[in-house]
Amino acid sequence: MTTKNIALRRSFLFVPGVNSKAVEKTKSLPADCIIFDLEDAVAPDAKNAARGTVVDAIAGGGYGSRQLIIRTNAINSEWFENDIKAAIATNCAAILVPKISSKADLEEVDCFIKINNGGKSVALWAMIETPMAIINIAQICSAAETLPLQGIILGLNDMAKDTGAKLDANRAAFHYAMAAAVNAASAYGIAAIDAVFNDIANADGFAKQSVQARDFGFDGKCVIHPTQIAPCNQIFSPSPSEIEAARAIVAAFSDPANFGKAVINVNGQMAELLHLEMAKKLLVTAETIQKML
Ligand code: COA
Ligand code: MG
Repeated sequence: MTTKNIALRRSFLFVPGVNSKAVEKTKSLPADCIIFDLEDAVAPDAKNAARGTVVDAIAGGGYGSRQLIIRTNAINSEWFENDIKAAIATNCAAILVPKISSKADLEEVDCFIKINNGGKSVALWAMIETPMAIINIAQICSAAETLPLQGIILGLNDMAKDTGAKLDANRAAFHYAMAAAVNAASAYGIAAIDAVFNDIANADGFAKQSVQARDFGFDGKCVIHPTQIAPCNQIFSPSPSEIEAARAIVAAFSDPANFGKAVINVNGQMAELLHLEMAKKLLVTAETIQKML
């Protein structure tokens, strides 16, 4: 099967825009997406310097197939307008806006971009990290019907700060928000990306949380350190046994003996046409990953 590559969205590496050494290092790191941060990871008096570093880094190129995303400061901050103007002047793949709490927030961002970009929109991602964003999660994702909203990214550090809910390894207090985010994103056909894992030295904890995120239905996870990238990519990639099972489903439905059937038995498992569709999708992802190796 030869297919068009899809955009991989397994690992989203945050890098503080102000840390030029780390920004440079991202060119050699295997993250699918790089998020150049101008917000939380940059102190107020370093905002202008960080913006300059990020603009220069993107202009300098050398990022290969990595998708480059700029996280601006929040809409109501003093830096937002300059962040947006700088971002649209780069050839970044998308702009990530923090603390989106309603569809109107995204419309405001798009409107400001159009005013400064000859009437053209730019691909957007929204950070879902306020209690109000979870209340409004369906209408926020519905913005994808009219705006180039590619996906949402969960921000649980901010959510824990605002709600007082405990952000422990299992994240029980956030299962509602996690499921709501995945469900709303799925309903509107956009991606949902899980939050960061702060405990950098805890590789086992990171792996467990990534498996949990994958099983909740997230497309990928945010990472904050180079050591988190490879395990994240692996966990969000189809496993050899999943690839084998998918191939078996495709082969079984292609067998003339099963022509016209909507449900068949594949190695003892019921397979319907929806499983065929899922199997084909999984194989396209696997093939895209294979081509990158
Ligand atoms: N992106 C790219 N490179 C990174 C990186 C990142 N997010 N985090 C660390 N590195 C690099 C370091 O520059 C260092 O490079 P070197 O070996 O070439 O010198 C190497 O990885 C090892 O870094 P380390 O010393 O283990 O990290 P640290 O203790 O200095 O920094 C953090 C820890 C958390 C401050 C840092 O990883 C970081 O800034 N992460 C991103 C934070 C962020 O953006 N937060 C906002 C969203 S939540
Ligand atoms: Mg934040």
